[in-house]
Amino acid sequence: MKGEIQEQYEYMKKVQEINSAKTLKYSIYTMGCQLNENDSEKISGMLEEMGYSKTEDLSISDLVIFNTCCVRENAEDKLFGKIGEMKKQKEKNNTIIAIGGCMMQEEHIVEKLHKSYPFVDIIFGTHTLHKLPEDIYKILVKRKRIDDIMDIDGEVYEGLPIKRNDDIKASVTIMYGCNNFCSYCIVPYVRGRERSRKPEDILNEIKELAKEGYKEITLLGQNVNSYDGGNGYKFSDLLYDVNKIDGIQRIRFVSPHPKDFTDDVIRAIATCDKICKIVHLPLQSGSSNVLKVMNRKYTKEQYLELAKKMQEQIPGIVFSTDIIVGFPGETEEDFEDTLDVVRKIKFEQVYMFIYSRRVGTPADKMENQIPDEIKHKRFDKLKELVESQIEDNNKKYVGTIQKVLVEGKSKNNPNMLTGRTDTNKVVNFEGDEKLIHKIIDLKIVSEHMWYLKGELL
Ligand code: 5AD
Ligand code: SF4
Repeated sequence: MKGEIQEQYEYMKKVQEINSAKTLKYSIYTMGCQLNENDSEKISGMLEEMGYSKTEDLSISDLVIFNTCCVRENAEDKLFGKIGEMKKQKEKNNTIIAIGGCMMQEEHIVEKLHKSYPFVDIIFGTHTLHKLPEDIYKILVKRKRIDDIMDIDGEVYEGLPIKRNDDIKASVTIMYGCNNFCSYCIVPYVRGRERSRKPEDILNEIKELAKEGYKEITLLGQNVNSYDGGNGYKFSDLLYDVNKIDGIQRIRFVSPHPKDFTDDVIRAIATCDKICKIVHLPLQSGSSNVLKVMNRKYTKEQYLELAKKMQEQIPGIVFSTDIIVGFPGETEEDFEDTLDVVRKIKFEQVYMFIYSRRVGTPADKMENQIPDEIKHKRFDKLKELVESQIEDNNKKYVGTIQKVLVEGKSKNNPNMLTGRTDTNKVVNFEGDEKLIHKIIDLKIVSEHMWYLKGELL
């Protein structure tokens, strides 16, 4: 395995030599979840090693990478639209176009690309990301289209270069793939079975990040609480060990599965001072009937019970969640159950999705699909409830003192600084730039829908 990465470093060197007399630019368009963002950081790492530098401007790029997601349908339309736009540019500048990620593991998508977008140079999958240097080398030398997709689960590769998007917060993937096969979800088919990284590789990466000045770490995986570090080393062991790393001040993780939320993980969150007291606990539906057909392996009552147990054992804990509306067969009553859980838990944040049929998943074959109009009506009703709750939640912050990790200048107002609370709320405030990258106490003075306003004490 090490040999394979070594080989890719040699390709990086070869490409760098070919490119050495030129100033070459790349841009990368990332769709989907934080795992994809983290993969894109690895792609950027490899590209910079090969002599490319990043630009946001597609029109001056010598190489354009699309890192795709296939969890919901609208991503497909977006991608094909973007690739279509690239055709003219390719004719003008001979731009190399590479498309990778989850969508490339779907046969019907690759077929469509071959048929309608033959000008795409490289198609790579989720298990062959590390081979991008080799693919680019071959394109530069031979200019022949490359498909580099594997159907078997990739290995866990260590040692790839990485160029991170942020200099204070970093994501660290701890495991790849998913074994759960929720009936609506395409991920297990495109990301393969669960493979965990070794604890020492994860911990060394985080120690390195701490040395570089990173303060906040997000541990990533499709199902982080199934992490298996070998020899009985569990997710909670990893949490304790990350908590010990000097310099790291905040730890987050996404996403755990409610069915695997064991007591040792609850204890770790309660005990470790650096673990943020907000847990993302994907609900998907509040109806036990729907949850059963979704293959989620918990009921409404078990979910509420788990949240209650965590509230009792972890002072101040709050939750965020994912919810799908309009799953096949969802009745008004089922939907009311979802609203009921939302009212009871009062989530800090809810990522709401309209159910989207995914080819190859069991739910796509179900006959009782919900009409779009009903899906949208339910979505709007859920959104209204969630927004009113966020407003109520925000009010509770006013007058409190919050620890805020200052991220930088506010994008909308360069005279203000912006940061986040432990519970991931955005706080804007006036302050000296010297405060950037520090954790400071702020008094919350007012609330707005998507941010709070703070003042220095
Ligand atoms: N339709 C709508 N939402 C989906 N998700 C996963 N698959 C689908 C689908 N087919 C949502 C789930 C998951 C989040 C990442 O995306 O809520 O937690
Ligand atoms: Fe998809 Fe379920 Fe796995 Fe999450 S746990 S990635 S929703 S199959």
